[in-house]
Amino acid sequence: MSPLRTLAFLALIGVCSCQASDCSYRGLLTHLNLTTTDKVMAVMRPVKNWTTPTLVQMDLVLYGILEVDEKSQTVTSHIWIRMGWTNEFLTWNLSDFCGIDSMTIPRSSLWIPDVSIEEDASDTGTIHNSPVITLSPSGSVLANSRQRLTSTCLLMVAMFPFDKQRCHFTFSSLSSDEETITLGTVSNDTRLTKVSKLLMVTRGEWHLEDIEIEDCSKNRTSGCQSRLVYTVIISRKPLLYVIIFIVPLFYFVLLDVCSFFISGARGEKLSFKVTILLSISVLLLILKDLLPSTEDSLPMIARYCVGIFALVGISVLEAMLVGFLYDLDGCCSNAQTPDDAQVDIQLEVDFHKESDGAEEPPERPSLPLNRPDDRDLLRLILEEVKTARREAGGPEEDERRPGSYRRLSEIIDSAFFVLYFLTVAVFLTYMNVVWMTQIISI
Ligand SMILES: *[C@@H]1O[C@H](CO)[C@@H](O)[C@H](O)[C@H]1NC(C)=O
Ligand SMILES: *[C@@H]1O[C@H](CO)[C@@H](O)[C@H](O)[C@H]1NC(C)=O
Ligand SMILES: *[C@@H]1O[C@H](CO)[C@@H](O)[C@H](O)[C@H]1NC(C)=O
Ligand SMILES: *[C@@H]1O[C@H](CO)[C@@H](O)[C@H](O)[C@H]1NC(C)=O
Ligand SMILES: *[C@@H]1O[C@H](CO)[C@@H](O)[C@H](O)[C@H]1NC(C)=O
Repeated sequence: MSPLRTLAFLALIGVCSCQASDCSYRGLLTHLNLTTTDKVMAVMRPVKNWTTPTLVQMDLVLYGILEVDEKSQTVTSHIWIRMGWTNEFLTWNLSDFCGIDSMTIPRSSLWIPDVSIEEDASDTGTIHNSPVITLSPSGSVLANSRQRLTSTCLLMVAMFPFDKQRCHFTFSSLSSDEETITLGTVSNDTRLTKVSKLLMVTRGEWHLEDIEIEDCSKNRTSGCQSRLVYTVIISRKPLLYVIIFIVPLFYFVLLDVCSFFISGARGEKLSFKVTILLSISVLLLILKDLLPSTEDSLPMIARYCVGIFALVGISVLEAMLVGFLYDLDGCCSNAQTPDDAQVDIQLEVDFHKESDGAEEPPERPSLPLNRPDDRDLLRLILEEVKTARREAGGPEEDERRPGSYRRLSEIIDSAFFVLYFLTVAVFLTYMNVVWMTQIISI
């Protein structure tokens, strides 16, 4: 009797252990009651006592900074988010299930915390959730998602292109308060920054400085436990802007200063200066496309551009004034004297009268040779005399009348040059100092 009982007992144990030690996922699913079609697991927060808050632990990895739009004040980045929380109903004993230590099930079959980013301004469809979530024996659930995130960010362009931006990603639950969902982190700041720097492929013109986490889950007094703020600090690589804005503008103003040494040809000097002015306005147009029109703080680079534009503009005006004064003197010396002009006109009239009277066709070239006209000869002699007189009289007249206006224009030119040079030097030094102090301070 007793051996039979022992045998039966052993058989029972064997059956039991066979049933308990199920090595298929199906058995585990059955154990977890997930095979039933009832959707209760998908709708309720998985806690046994409703007063227990669910701690959702987040991990954010920055995979790339795709675009920073200063005009619309948005930052587009590529991020991966991992969320983990505990489902108190989905626990199993490893030894009962052949040591199955993780299982994936469809995302739709379980409750997922509705955590989202407050700054998110992306279009719909930019979030790509992993279709499955991972369960582990202790009841912890992991859900991954990646996102092309366009987030609003207050971009400070005052120091463009040497700027550093701080953008926040604030995670919070849309429908729950901190009584039900608490947000926490898995990795700390240093680790996250290290991983992001390692994995980041696209950075564009940006350099990732640091990622800071403001984690309230350990601070029971602050009242911000349902929020988690990641602060991404990025700095711009300024070399391109230095090459296309700052250096050319510096050269333009240098050229403008040097143009005071163009001697003589005042018209050329003026057109040279106007060309410089036009080149600067092209740069201003490019700048307009880059920067937002903020009225409260004009970016330093805009001040720099406008300052140089104004300086060159003033120097163009000065060149015009000097040219005007110079010509005010020159106008009388260059023009023909009235008696010359009268003789000229008289000759012209006589000549026309005579040719009209003869009604000779004008295309006959042999006319002056066939009929040597003393009027023509006279004309030639007159021309000769006039040029001789002009040549002789020009310098003499200049010496005779050095021209108060001309002298004035020269004085103005010299004084303006000194003033202009000093202003340019002071302006450039000021910009340099301001820029340098700002670059060092940030
Ligand atoms: C599955 O459901 C049965 C009865 O409906 C219950 O006894 C059991 O505890 C449930 N298992 C789990 C893991 O919730
Ligand atoms: C639920 O939690 C509250 C507070 O934590 C506790 O006072 C209460 O006894 C719990 N209820 C059960 C049934 O465990
Ligand atoms: C798992 O099962 C083994 C034997 O069946 C038992 O000794 C152990 O305490 C169980 N572990 C838990 C966490 O229930
Ligand atoms: C961050 O985590 C790493 C390991 O993950 C650890 O070595 C480091 O000390 C932590 N830093 C801080 C500030 O907690
Ligand atoms: C918790 O938050 C309060 C208010 O925000 C702050 O004064 C306090 O220093 C914080 N404590 C810790 C440990 O961070």
